[in-house]
Amino acid sequence: MITITLGDENDTARLASLLVQHLPAGSVVLLKGPLGAGKTTLARHVARALGFTGRVTSPTYTLIHTYPTPGGTLLHADVYRLPDSAQLWEFGLEEALEDARLALIEWGTPEILVADVEIEIEITEDGTRRLRLAALEPELKDVVATIEQAMRRGRG
Ligand SMILES: Nc1ncnc2c1ncn2[C@@H]1O[C@H](COP(=O)(O)OP(=O)(O)OP(=O)(O)O)[C@@H](O)[C@H]1O
Ligand SMILES: [Mg+2]
Repeated sequence: MITITLGDENDTARLASLLVQHLPAGSVVLLKGPLGAGKTTLARHVARALGFTGRVTSPTYTLIHTYPTPGGTLLHADVYRLPDSAQLWEFGLEEALEDARLALIEWGTPEILVADVEIEIEITEDGTRRLRLAALEPELKDVVATIEQAMRRGRG
């Protein structure tokens, strides 16, 4: 598990590009963190990094948004308000996951579905974001390390 500080949304954009560059096709990323942490913002920048130029909004009520991007289909879900994880399947998450180049799930928990990467965002006292990035699959540990190094290089 690694920790990265995102000073502003430019850092979020850089992280999004690195996720797109390094995560294998079909990766499922859980996004955790309190209200306003920046989960949807990260999803928006991932869509941009995949070449999508349209609007990216929070899937708060619709639960699942899919974006056909030049880099493949991006799935963005927000299941925070879903009372029962079994309902996820009624909303077609499973089918949507099959087609996704990348899937970002806000407030998902590892118990709900099998994920590859977990990202937890924390708001610090000065308004920057502290982000913890963990590989849930052993073969993604190198990817996470590569992303950390690239983020540090960019900052230095
Ligand atoms: N790296 C960052 N540095 C500073 N501010 C940020 C950063 N990332 C996002 N923000 C700001 O924080 C807010 C985050 O809102 P966002 O909707 O992305 O949060 P969220 O985690 O998806 O919340 P919710 O739980 O309501 O879905 C936005 O106003 C955004 O501009
Ligand atoms: Mg959100």
